[in-house]
Amino acid sequence: MESSIILALDFSKKQELDEFLTLLKDEKLFVKVGMEAFYQHGPSLVNELKQLGHNVFLDLKLHDIPTTVNKAMKGLAGLGVDLINVHASGGSRMMTAAMEGLEAGTRAGEKRPMCIGVTQLTSTSEEMLRKELNMTTNMKNSVVSLASLAKASGLDGVVSSALEVPTIKETCGDQFLTVTPGIRLEGDLAGDQNRVCSPAKARVLGSDYIVVGRSITASPDPLKAYERLKSEWGNTHEIYR
Ligand code: C5P
Repeated sequence: MESSIILALDFSKKQELDEFLTLLKDEKLFVKVGMEAFYQHGPSLVNELKQLGHNVFLDLKLHDIPTTVNKAMKGLAGLGVDLINVHASGGSRMMTAAMEGLEAGTRAGEKRPMCIGVTQLTSTSEEMLRKELNMTTNMKNSVVSLASLAKASGLDGVVSSALEVPTIKETCGDQFLTVTPGIRLEGDLAGDQNRVCSPAKARVLGSDYIVVGRSITASPDPLKAYERLKSEWGNTHEIYR
């Protein structure tokens, strides 16, 4: 069964990334390759992870004019990743162009990568929304409005904090995927994240996938931390797709 825990491989040094994967070598993983790793190691890293049998979320959060995003997505779809994303704040034309690019670039006989829209980053606080981004609405309204736009543009789901999942599901329906970073095991530091949540609470709130980085990668015993995470999150999670 596909794992609904997505492990963020936020390593710029290939050796550290390899050492981490060696620790978890007996697990079939769903891994996330973000800017830190992709900008250093590029498509060859994605190929390597796919060859190891892992599912790959390519977290590059595209946000540009529609034509650029369309062409970028066409190329990225050819890497055979399972999940990919754009910033929903790029607007409906950009998101539609992203979906068209993904369809066009998907390899013959393969499934189109699922595409999700980033609503508000989990590092963004209510205060930042108002004071820095000059928004007159609150976090929940902003997230739900971007989620609705993503749905209307044909995306498969969104990235948000787990705290916003119930409202997103209520508005966009149960089958609209919610992928939630900002997950912390009890006792871990929040770091730069603001809207954090435990794995157990994320499950109760209805997250489909949780994204976890430092709670595992910065742990002195990553394997033990992953086992703890799996038991707190639970394995009998049904994902609609
Ligand atoms: O270490 P931590 O668990 O905070 O890592 C979270 C990961 O999820 C990072 O790779 C970050 O880039 C990503 N992410 C996020 N918030 C979003 C989208 C992605 O934290 N809205």
